[in-house]
Amino acid sequence: MAVRSVQFSRMLAPLLVLASAHCSTPPVSVPDADSASADATSSDIVAIDGAEGDAAAGDASVADAAMAPWLEPWAPGPRARPRQGFLWGSATAGYQIEGQLGNTDWAIWESLGRVANNDRADDGPRSYERWMDDVSALRDSGQTAYRFGIEWARLFPTRASWEACRDAMGDMAAKVATCRASASADGKRYYHQLIDALRSSPTRIVPMVTLHHWVMPDYIADPRMEFSTQGWMNNRMRTDMALYAAVVAAEYGEKVDWYVTINEPLVHVLAGYLDGRFPPGRTLEIDGAIRVITNMIYAHAGMYDAIKQFDRTTAESAGPITPVQSSYVSVAHHIRRMYPANPASSNDARAAARADWLNHKLFFEAIVRGNLDANGDGTVAATEPTNDPALRGRVDYLGINYYGMTTIRANAGIPLVGGLPVNEELDRGLPKTDFGWDIFPKGFEEVLVNYGNEYRLPMVITENGLADSRDVNRPRYMLEHLAAMFSAMQRGANIAGYFHWSTIDNFEWVGGYCPHFGLYSVDFTSPMRPRTARPSAMLYRDIIRTGEITDAQLMMAPAYQRPVRICPATAMNPRDAGM
Ligand code: BGC
Repeated sequence: MAVRSVQFSRMLAPLLVLASAHCSTPPVSVPDADSASADATSSDIVAIDGAEGDAAAGDASVADAAMAPWLEPWAPGPRARPRQGFLWGSATAGYQIEGQLGNTDWAIWESLGRVANNDRADDGPRSYERWMDDVSALRDSGQTAYRFGIEWARLFPTRASWEACRDAMGDMAAKVATCRASASADGKRYYHQLIDALRSSPTRIVPMVTLHHWVMPDYIADPRMEFSTQGWMNNRMRTDMALYAAVVAAEYGEKVDWYVTINEPLVHVLAGYLDGRFPPGRTLEIDGAIRVITNMIYAHAGMYDAIKQFDRTTAESAGPITPVQSSYVSVAHHIRRMYPANPASSNDARAAARADWLNHKLFFEAIVRGNLDANGDGTVAATEPTNDPALRGRVDYLGINYYGMTTIRANAGIPLVGGLPVNEELDRGLPKTDFGWDIFPKGFEEVLVNYGNEYRLPMVITENGLADSRDVNRPRYMLEHLAAMFSAMQRGANIAGYFHWSTIDNFEWVGGYCPHFGLYSVDFTSPMRPRTARPSAMLYRDIIRTGEITDAQLMMAPAYQRPVRICPATAMNPRDAGM
């Protein structure tokens, strides 16, 4: 038991940082500040320059807001303009919009009553039928790029179809040929139609495809079954995902250059293995979380190599990165601006730096530099992969999803990170979205400058947006975040594209249909699911056309309003509540 609790502390704390963004009340208990002495030594943490121990660790009596850097006035500085070929788009995910994906772990999850209001993805925007309406929305709002998912369960709807692929004989090229033959003709056609329509739109909408956005076929991961062999727990996912990536690259590579292998790997780990809100619904599954992260890192590297091998066609003759390549591959990584909860506490500062490492840098460090902190202890030991040719250089751009900030309070009972996130829903003096998240464009600018300096790679904002059903805050949010991005570009950040989340209102995972993230609203009561442009969609069109945010636009932007209701980010259905 003792060993388990130490492991729990080591992994859970950093990952709860993401819980604070996606779940108002992490349903786990943690040791309190005084219940354990910090067993983290200076060698197994990520130190921050100049940080030294102090007596204020976990001291909630210090008025956090008094010196809060997140409340310092911020205004974007001089702003660069987007380069030629900049990708101006928005994003969706297959499961969140398509419908008719009943053969997935998420559909089972819904049937178990694990989504707020018992909402079902099948009642969503129905893009499997209404995809032309999505293309029209993109076109009408002047967008030049679209990030969407290609669902494994759509291409290989049955176990037999996947096993015919996976177990095919021969070298990789022969296998991929067999796989393309065993894949669903309807599934393949669906994405071909969508991609063709995007590319032939008058605005020429560049496709960016996501290969894994949290959803798996039910024959790969069934949340009703013993979890330890399911989904990402199974080491076979490394080769399965590489094979799937190869099939997609071979099938669509002639028309596609931009790829996201895995969406927000650490959110998947958190919600699936630590706080239990996503399938497989495990809580505090520490060893599992470590295994899943490692499998994802190696799977990403395999997917990268497979795409490079099977997509050798440059679909776009020009683009934001020169010279043009046949593929640009990354993950979409959820990055938050981390702060110490008490800015005066060096222990909080140290904990925030460690959380930053574990949630953000660990994954990038592995796939950019080949340095894998396999046990998450903050260092890459001699026994761990270092500058590993099997991992390094597997990124053509940094995919960054930015939604806001997190504050970390030191807690000596959490050995590795030495702290815990402060609940996102608490009032920190910042405006809020309908999901209770803080609106914080300053952090966006800082994240972009920092990641640009750290990795010296092009970046694409693969997601940024907010839940705002009335569209009262989205215009200002959009202006401020894009101004922050342009300001970061002026300061040297090399940014190739921006994708707003989301194109249309959609199925918000455990939040169901309460939060509305769309530039376009969807009438979920009408069988045709009509999409209607919100004012911010037209604002986006104007920004894309002019390629700038002016001081006058910022000054005239309507002030942020309080949300009329905060959407729950947990199910709280009778079954969940034990009723
Ligand atoms: C995810 C999306 C989700 C959005 C809003 C992102 O973390 O990639 O699938 O809908 O956040 O919660």
